[in-house]
Amino acid sequence: MSKIREKFNHYVAANNQIVCVTCYDASFAKILDDLKIDIVLVGDSLGMVIKGDEDTHSVKKDEIIYHTSCVAKSKKNFLLMSDMPINSCKDKDSAIIFAKKLLKINADIVKIEYQDTHKDIVKEIISENIPVCGHLGFLPQYAIKKEDIRVYGKTQLEHDKILRQAKELENLGVEIILLECVDKKLSKLITELVNVPVIGIGSGESCNGQVQVIYDIIGISNNPPKFSKNLLEGSTSIQEAIKKFHDYVKNLNT
Ligand code: KIV
Repeated sequence: MSKIREKFNHYVAANNQIVCVTCYDASFAKILDDLKIDIVLVGDSLGMVIKGDEDTHSVKKDEIIYHTSCVAKSKKNFLLMSDMPINSCKDKDSAIIFAKKLLKINADIVKIEYQDTHKDIVKEIISENIPVCGHLGFLPQYAIKKEDIRVYGKTQLEHDKILRQAKELENLGVEIILLECVDKKLSKLITELVNVPVIGIGSGESCNGQVQVIYDIIGISNNPPKFSKNLLEGSTSIQEAIKKFHDYVKNLNT
């Protein structure tokens, strides 16, 4: 079993919730490391919160490399997860080359917004010993219209599809599954059924951990999702706000 799975399986067994926060630079990464955040995600949400775009569609591989290398400079304890941005999983050779570049600059795991067409590519990436987090539910890279930003898995068809994909990711050997905006009953079911640590965002409180975009936590995002809360309100520092998120997650399900 990989070190990542071993570590987070221990968390799951001990009901120690996994805390994941996005980050794009060395200064915030230092704060997250000091606060003992478990996973730091260099997400393609940087398209919105760093570049000021409407969505993640313009994020380039080089931008993920740049921000991963900034965050990696402050990495002591956290697991560093980097996003595979839009179009980076179109073919297996370029996907593997890019994922290897990320590991070379000290990422520990890559995250892929998973669609059925990615099955063979994910299999090949994992066969190269590259740890993968499979992202299911709302997939921002494939969202075209505003109405695509919604909860997924409420209809039987979507429920069955997401559950099947979660089982497929488990069989492919991913280290972590991330559920974004998945119906909370379905997130609970997936967390119970699949033998892979599951972290969620906007997917209820029954996962093995929670993810948030750092700028949502500290209340400076232009367009924060409904499920996020500005924790800087009532706090005296950014550190205190992020610690509130950390403590809230660690106290879930206890
Ligand atoms: O890009 C990102 O920040 C993400 C999180 C919202 C999970 O994928």
